[in-house]
Amino acid sequence: MRAAGSLCLGLLFAVAVGLEFCYHRSQQLSAFLQEVHKKHPDITALHSIGQSVAGRDLWVLVLGRFPTQHTIGIPEFKYIANMHGDETVGRELLLHLIDFLVTNDKSDPVVTRLIDSTRIHIMPTMNPDGFEAATVLDCYYSEGRFNKKGKDLNRNFPDAFNSNNFTIQPETQAVINWIKSETFVLSANLHGGAVVASYTFDNGNPATGSLQGYSRCPDDDVFIHLAKTYSSNHASMYKGTECGNKTVFPDGITNGYAWYPLQGGMQDYNYIWGQCFEITLELSCCKYPPASQLQAFWNDNKAALIEYIKQVHLGIKGQVLDRNGQPVPNVIVEAKGREHVCPYRTNQHGEYYLLLLPGIYVINATAPGYGSILKTLQVPNGPGNFSALKYDFVFPEASTTGGDASCPTKPLYLNFESISAAVKPTLHFLALMTVLYTVFK
Ligand SMILES: *[C@@H]1O[C@H](CO)[C@@H](O)[C@H](O)[C@H]1NC(C)=O
Ligand SMILES: *[C@@H]1O[C@H](CO)[C@@H](O)[C@H](O)[C@H]1NC(C)=O
Ligand SMILES: *[C@@H]1O[C@H](CO)[C@@H](O)[C@H](O)[C@H]1NC(C)=O
Ligand SMILES: *[C@@H]1O[C@H](CO)[C@@H](O)[C@H](O)[C@H]1NC(C)=O
Ligand SMILES: [Zn+2]
Repeated sequence: MRAAGSLCLGLLFAVAVGLEFCYHRSQQLSAFLQEVHKKHPDITALHSIGQSVAGRDLWVLVLGRFPTQHTIGIPEFKYIANMHGDETVGRELLLHLIDFLVTNDKSDPVVTRLIDSTRIHIMPTMNPDGFEAATVLDCYYSEGRFNKKGKDLNRNFPDAFNSNNFTIQPETQAVINWIKSETFVLSANLHGGAVVASYTFDNGNPATGSLQGYSRCPDDDVFIHLAKTYSSNHASMYKGTECGNKTVFPDGITNGYAWYPLQGGMQDYNYIWGQCFEITLELSCCKYPPASQLQAFWNDNKAALIEYIKQVHLGIKGQVLDRNGQPVPNVIVEAKGREHVCPYRTNQHGEYYLLLLPGIYVINATAPGYGSILKTLQVPNGPGNFSALKYDFVFPEASTTGGDASCPTKPLYLNFESISAAVKPTLHFLALMTVLYTVFK
């Protein structure tokens, strides 16, 4: 069924008079992004991180005071939508978010401070081929979910719990390369088919709590805060009873595994191999609702989208330097009690970013061969100052070097699994759940 007025009619846009609420086809989406960049070249950069199977560009618009490159101390943030091509609300929301940010810079104080303090990467569609194949107003399921090779991109990433040696799709590979190329700190991935904020882990084993039906990562408290930030700033997500109350989500949030386990998901990949905290936002009961509802979706999500970006300024950030003030890459910097299976390391500028809630933490900076520096720090603030607490570590040696940066892309949590009879029912349960609920995240 094709509803008149769902898809945008024109190719050209008068950005000044506001972006229309309609579905932008691929060409229109590219035209819009190019137009925004042309009008706001000082605060935007536009690039394609790769091509889909059918050769469509995977566009990313970057916003910031220095949009073309990383600046030391300024964290990198990203939003990705439409990785399931038939889940279309996020795709349009991100276009409206772009429009809102560029038109309110230097007039709205929050937008201005965000652009001053953050580099924001926005990818309106990770699956442009799927979107073109999707059926307008199909609320439940259509082939548009998959990429042109019929693959579900949110099952296509390396997994930390299982060997999933399928072929990595071009869209997935582009995102993997992109994650490697930037020091992303915080991210969200926009979907549809439910209304809830779901957080890592999506997969699990007894080492992460799967026997209790919840797969807990070392930063579980931070993830709960991040998910609640979105749901409580959303018009109704926090109620947890959208979509004909088939599932009730207390506070509008859920652990991914507790909802239903999946492997090869993007948010677990971000957290484990990308040093980036990502959550999955389910934003509409109907996956591809009529365009007449897009304005209401924007109204419901606008505050939450902005408040979530601010959270990139939680915790502690800084550099690791040697005695001569030279930055040291690949130093492990982690808070005690929340070590990661792939240790989080400083980037090429010696920088680290640790998302932490207010509290007291012992931070351990370790350069193998040069020892560890332990420092107790009190994180006093939320993100209200648009900056994490800043602390630099200085190693006493003249030329300190970091360790080996590589963390193998293999099921690292397999080593943690305790082999016991109790594991078997869990695996059975996992397989069953996967079959029952493949339609959502
Ligand atoms: C993974 O790849 C190996 C070697 O190519 C193959 O023997 C195995 O069956 C594959 N496993 C799965 C789950 O596809
Ligand atoms: C939601 O659940 C309540 C209580 O079980 C029930 O009365 C109501 O009809 C349900 N609403 C929908 C839309 O299913
Ligand atoms: C600090 O981190 C390193 C590397 O992860 C680890 O080997 C060491 O035991 C840690 N030190 C303390 C006191 O936790
Ligand atoms: C902002 O920073 C000041 C000074 O460091 C601190 O006293 C204040 O609590 C912070 N405010 C917020 C909202 O984080
Ligand atoms: Zn989805």
